[in-house]
Amino acid sequence: MRVKTIGIFDSGIGGLSVLAKAREMMPDVDFIYYADTEHVPYGTKSREEIVNYSVEAAKFLIKKGAEAILVACNTATSMAVDTLRAVFDCPVVGMEPAVKPAVSHHPHERILVCATPATIGGEKLHELLRRNAEGAEVDLCALPELVVFAENGIFDSEIVSAYIRSRAAREDYSACVLGCTHFPYFKDSFRLVFPYAEMIDGTEGTVRRLCHVTGYERESSLDRGTVKYYNTGAAVSDTQTLAFYEELQRRVR
Ligand code: DGL
Repeated sequence: MRVKTIGIFDSGIGGLSVLAKAREMMPDVDFIYYADTEHVPYGTKSREEIVNYSVEAAKFLIKKGAEAILVACNTATSMAVDTLRAVFDCPVVGMEPAVKPAVSHHPHERILVCATPATIGGEKLHELLRRNAEGAEVDLCALPELVVFAENGIFDSEIVSAYIRSRAAREDYSACVLGCTHFPYFKDSFRLVFPYAEMIDGTEGTVRRLCHVTGYERESSLDRGTVKYYNTGAAVSDTQTLAFYEELQRRVR
């Protein structure tokens, strides 16, 4: 199977960090990006709400021509990926906090997993830890305010690192898993707070999986893939927002 158009969604701008990698690794694919700006943040909402919003997002993307869906959101994956796979016929690729690479790079060391409250409290993460982190020392940390900072364009301030520090039990982690797609924008702040930690996110592994699941092979040497952006149901056309979306993708490249 070879798909031409892939739909990606997140509650907001977090998934752009995944879109950036997908555009790099699949340069001749067309992407449709759906930021559910009307309902962001997802991470502090109920399972039922997150499932409903995720189904609406996927339905919209498929109607616009997506032949596969990438859930560029750890929270929506945790709460809704099983429902999406049951409801839709097309391939649905989700993402989960990168616990596996963190434990394999740092066996028997102390690891911090940061995510939204819904992901931290969700059964999927605990199952992932049971399967992959037995014997490892893993602390969990919910950082919902980072999503609010990101959606308000606040990235590098002292307030951000002070917030992360106030939520962390210690600073001597060997690895810090960024288990929310909004978090890679804050790598510099995380590095200030956890100076010894390797920062690990699941972006590249997720896009590799997307390539595999969609049978992707590069067909053209020209990077001619297109991207269309939607904020919930509305096409994004104002140049300021489009420039901001491109700038965020440059930040994480
Ligand atoms: N970016 C999302 C994630 O990866 C959701 C953040 C939110 O809306 O709370 O978990």
